[in-house]
Amino acid sequence: MAEDLGLDFGETASVEMLPEEGSCRSKARGGLEARSSSICWALTCCLVLMLAALTTYLLMGQLQAQGDTCAQFQALTRREFEHLHQRAYTDLRADRNKPRAHLTVVRQIPTTRLKNQFPALHWEHELGLAFTKNRMNYTNKFLVIPESGDYFVYSQVTFRGTTSKCGKINQGSQPNKPDSIIVVITKVTDSYPEPTQLLTGTKSVCEIGSNWFQPVYLGAMFSLQEGDRLMVNVSDISLVDYTKEDKTFFGAFLL
Ligand SMILES: *[C@@H]1O[C@H](CO)[C@@H](O)[C@H](O)[C@H]1NC(C)=O
Ligand SMILES: *[C@@H]1O[C@H](CO)[C@@H](O)[C@H](O)[C@H]1NC(C)=O
Repeated sequence: MAEDLGLDFGETASVEMLPEEGSCRSKARGGLEARSSSICWALTCCLVLMLAALTTYLLMGQLQAQGDTCAQFQALTRREFEHLHQRAYTDLRADRNKPRAHLTVVRQIPTTRLKNQFPALHWEHELGLAFTKNRMNYTNKFLVIPESGDYFVYSQVTFRGTTSKCGKINQGSQPNKPDSIIVVITKVTDSYPEPTQLLTGTKSVCEIGSNWFQPVYLGAMFSLQEGDRLMVNVSDISLVDYTKEDKTFFGAFLL
């Protein structure tokens, strides 16, 4: 009984010991596994938390940086806009003070024609559409440039006639008359002895019949010096249409 018991015990013990041992070992292993897995969990959790924290930190940093950049950009654009606005306003004010003139045609006083030289037109500079502003001076057929810079210079001269010059030449009645009309914008400057031809417009009137009108328009930009004088010369002053101020004009303005 005892033996049995003992045996039994032993047996059971032994029997039980084994499984118990086994179970203990497995338990211990299980415990170890559980512990390691919990450590693993903890580590994982820690890592995840750290990662999350890092991500959050980085994200926050980036957001802040973005916010800063955005704020900086906004400040910059506002400042730039104000600067541009200020400059545009100053430019506008400066533009208003720039020299300019628009002259219109008046009845021409016939002048004795010099050889190899076209007569210069004289102009209205105050009445109607005509004006001179900001120190641009009109004196004795000349526009006097008050300050150096790039100027747009323009002129239109309308010619009119009743008969074709060409026909006259062909008939041989007035062989000294040209078969074309010419407009020249001339510059006279103190630094150069000869007048300079800035712009020239030529039109043939050969093919034109009776009662003709021909406008010649010229316009371009020039770098001019203070004191330069500009004028408009024409091949034949008697052909200039001086009847209306919008037909024949001359002007310049600083760009
Ligand atoms: C235009 O007239 C001016 C003044 O009379 C003269 O000096 C200049 O040579 C003329 N220009 C032309 C192209 O004939
Ligand atoms: C234009 O120039 C003439 C002669 O140089 C001068 O007498 C006149 O006062 C000037 N006019 C203006 C508005 O400056």
